[in-house]
Amino acid sequence: MRIDKLLSNMGYGTRKEVKKILKTGTVRVDEVVIKDAKQHIDVEENVVTINGETVEYREYIYIMMNKPAGFLSATEDEEETVIDLLIPDDQIFAPFPVGRLDKDTEGLLVITNDGKLAHHLTSPKHHVPKTYFARINGRVTEKDIEAFKQGVTLDDGYKTKPGELTIVEEGPISQIELTIHEGKFHQVKRMFEAVDKKVIYLQRISMGDLVLDEDLDIGEYRELTEDEVELLRK
Ligand code: URA
Repeated sequence: MRIDKLLSNMGYGTRKEVKKILKTGTVRVDEVVIKDAKQHIDVEENVVTINGETVEYREYIYIMMNKPAGFLSATEDEEETVIDLLIPDDQIFAPFPVGRLDKDTEGLLVITNDGKLAHHLTSPKHHVPKTYFARINGRVTEKDIEAFKQGVTLDDGYKTKPGELTIVEEGPISQIELTIHEGKFHQVKRMFEAVDKKVIYLQRISMGDLVLDEDLDIGEYRELTEDEVELLRK
């Protein structure tokens, strides 16, 4: 990779700005001063420093966010997006949310710049399970559990794949968990509409084997551990 691309990717400025930094003679590759922006380096082998400080290179970032309501799962919009919640040092990687949560949905959102992993997680072929916690306006019953097991017909005529519904707390406002293996637009809300009930609160709690970290407050995020990234690749 060219030295100017590496430094720019790591947040040291635009290519033009990086070229200026290089001219000052503060950048060294394996102790040798490098001024030429076109110089190629091996990111695995060479040690790059600026003013003696090592530049850590990495290509990918993997984030777990506890998404707050009120933010769009998008990279850019007139409205606030989940990317706006990231510190600039993390935004440098140009990460994007994996799949969509509605603006009013909270909970587990993976944000990365690893397109291959994102594709793996969202491709309909892979049926990655997603589990949601929800509060439902209405009494969820055994009949609903059975209906979801068979698949319900949404407002556009689509019959869903089987979903696993559990009642966490019974009552006029029910608390439930639902695992689905696909990701149609507003799927959970529309599945409950299909049985004449309304989702009044929705939170995603897991995606594949990755579970939302309970220590993350709403709106907080952290990087995934290597083990967690592996869980998602499975
Ligand atoms: N299903 C929904 O209805 N909304 C979401 O945000 C996610 C799943």
